[in-house]
Amino acid sequence: MTETVFADDTAIAKAVELLHQGRLVAFPTETVYGLGTDAGNAEAVTGIFRAKGRPVDHPLIVHIASSAQLSDWASQVPDAAQRLAKLFWPGPLTLILKKRPEVPDEVTGGQDTVGLRIPDNPVALRLLRAFGGGIAAPSANRYKRVSPTQASHVAEELDGLIDLILDGGPCRVGVESTIIDLSGASPLLLRPGRISKAEIEQELQCELTVISATNNDTPRAPGQMTVHYAPLTSTRLCPPERLSETIRQLNDQGKKIGLLAYRFESKSSSSVTIYYLPETADDYAQGLYAALRDLDRLGLDAILVEQPPESNEWHAVNDRLKKAAAAF
Ligand code: TXA
Ligand code: MG
Repeated sequence: MTETVFADDTAIAKAVELLHQGRLVAFPTETVYGLGTDAGNAEAVTGIFRAKGRPVDHPLIVHIASSAQLSDWASQVPDAAQRLAKLFWPGPLTLILKKRPEVPDEVTGGQDTVGLRIPDNPVALRLLRAFGGGIAAPSANRYKRVSPTQASHVAEELDGLIDLILDGGPCRVGVESTIIDLSGASPLLLRPGRISKAEIEQELQCELTVISATNNDTPRAPGQMTVHYAPLTSTRLCPPERLSETIRQLNDQGKKIGLLAYRFESKSSSSVTIYYLPETADDYAQGLYAALRDLDRLGLDAILVEQPPESNEWHAVNDRLKKAAAAF
């Protein structure tokens, strides 16, 4: 059994010792829980892929404590990277930069770039500072499953497969970091997150090209594959105006259904388990993965999701919902 410990100084010291030994430690970030190991230790990094069941060509993000460490990992730090780091770090933003030759191929999936970020979570920052080096950490879930936003979610996914879980409470943002690729001629948005496309464009004074799952068959980021972040129960998005009718049809077929809603008002005649998330995009995102996990546990035939608006503020949520639904 993997021990889950409250992330006090003693626990962090123990985590640092484990990291130095090349072991695997889950820790909270502001986005989701990460499964961390010493990014400079190729063999330790291999252990992450084993624990997650993740293909080895899917690169990991290296978490660092300060921008001064950027040049330990990146061979070039363009002005755009400096600007974004200054404005958004610590925070839910990952920058993809050309890597230094010493960065293990195990970390980068054999690519010539490396993903870097400074997380904005007190436990993560204390851990990173105490450890001193980079911590390679994907989300602490099994491959293709919903990312964990609480320590208990990590235990559900990886109990017995990793060495320690640091409990720092629920994650504040709830969806994974925005990923910006600055390694090429023009900046690319690889994954939407809490920091929006517009905020990045405003700072860089140029337009970002959005790389989406559908216009890219060899994914540079596993997060870009359509089948990702998936619950086990069949999940589908439904426009608000079609919900009542869809619920009625599924009820008629004798299906046990759950609904992830933010506004829908149920009619007493329908039989559906409703899980409400807040109406604002950021609060909705914070609760999204826990909601999907809770609904998944109910032994339902299907999960319907009341489709949020297609507006910019819902970009990250819609991206994750579409991926959850794409598995079915
Ligand atoms: O919020 C987050 O980013 C969380 C927390 C733990 O920091 N981490 C996370 O890691 O979501 P993961 O491995 O689940 O997703 C990281 C994404 C993957 O889609 C990966 O392919 C992409 O980052 N990535 C990492 N390095 C890359 C690189 N060199 N080029 C392109 N994509 C990269
Ligand atoms: Mg992940």
